[in-house]
Amino acid sequence: MFESVKPVPADPILGLMEKFRAEQNPNKIDLGVGVYKDEQGRTPVLDSVKQAEELVHQHEDSKGYIDPAGDPETNLAMQKLLLGEDSQALKDQRVATLQTPGGCGALSLAARMSAQANGESTVWVSNPTWGNHLPLIGAAGLGIKEYSYYDPVSKGVNFDRMMSDLETASSGDLLLLHGCCHNPSGADLSPDQWQDVALLMLRKGIVPWVDLAYQGFGEGIEEDCFGLRLLAEQLPEMMLASSCSKNFGLYRERTGTLSIVTKNSGSSAAVKSQLAKIARETYSMPPSHGAAIVGMILGTQPLRQLWEKEVGEMRWRIGNLRHELALKLNKNAIDRDFSFINEQRGMFSLLGLPPDQVRKLADDYGIYLVASSRISVPGINSTNVDYLAEAIIATLGSGDT
Ligand code: LMR
Repeated sequence: MFESVKPVPADPILGLMEKFRAEQNPNKIDLGVGVYKDEQGRTPVLDSVKQAEELVHQHEDSKGYIDPAGDPETNLAMQKLLLGEDSQALKDQRVATLQTPGGCGALSLAARMSAQANGESTVWVSNPTWGNHLPLIGAAGLGIKEYSYYDPVSKGVNFDRMMSDLETASSGDLLLLHGCCHNPSGADLSPDQWQDVALLMLRKGIVPWVDLAYQGFGEGIEEDCFGLRLLAEQLPEMMLASSCSKNFGLYRERTGTLSIVTKNSGSSAAVKSQLAKIARETYSMPPSHGAAIVGMILGTQPLRQLWEKEVGEMRWRIGNLRHELALKLNKNAIDRDFSFINEQRGMFSLLGLPPDQVRKLADDYGIYLVASSRISVPGINSTNVDYLAEAIIATLGSGDT
């Protein structure tokens, strides 16, 4: 039965972890997978997480099954964290939330739910978008179209082209937007642009689908929800996939939520029951440990304050690294301006190098980035930033473009 199965190439992002581990260059730098790293190059367990974990262990009295929807209190805390304490949709009981196995679990559940609700709908994804969006959405059987997003010349959003592409979308289509810290470009919509997109969706009957994987890494925990909250307020329906991997540092615990905002509370109950059914058919119920930690942090004031401080420190560090790298590159780049690295937000930026130069960075310097020339900024530190900047400058202009 399995003799004819062919191996697939390694995942373009996760595959870099193995290559980096095998790299012998003592100066090697990992700018591949989007994982936060501290000055020592470690991905630390947050203090708030450590303390919450202790409390979870003390209080845990069973390893019995949990509900396919997860823990109701944690889900409520997550709803408030994402949609805001004063969310009208929450007050109206129009939000169905399920705890999910990470942000990917949330996206996958959302895709399957959409395919079930309207198999004809097309999902519009930004060009470029996170590499895993396409297979994940495609696996649910939904059609995919791209809208223009990143402008490699201005290094910002090509908003006019984005809007004109979206004019061709049909009623019932889904528009996938990155809530903040666009992956891979680091270029986000401005508040006015979010408003314009909301009006376009309202006029055309497009349903927003927000992927929020980096809450707190852009402008702040509350600020990074600006766009999604505006959509939840102004549009009748919305899907929101959130990940706790980065801002809680819970990568391997697979912790996230899917929230679907519906037109009324009756639809919300129906959607929640369908989501629980899809969960049951695929993984039965979400893992509970990471969500128990998140619930403990959000529900315990001193832990919450500590967590907010730690997220602030991660954001601040990323901002500083962006500043440092842009400064060092601009000092030596002859005909290129790297200021965009300092102006963009979140973990990622696209350096704008062709694939052969990305390969050269790996082969000659042991510096690993995604083939699109996406860098994961927290892989930089004060010890390697000079080496990195020198390597990039030396590589610019080499090979064919
Ligand atoms: C990334 O984009 O590097 C992260 O979201 C990790 C992943 O799963 O791809």
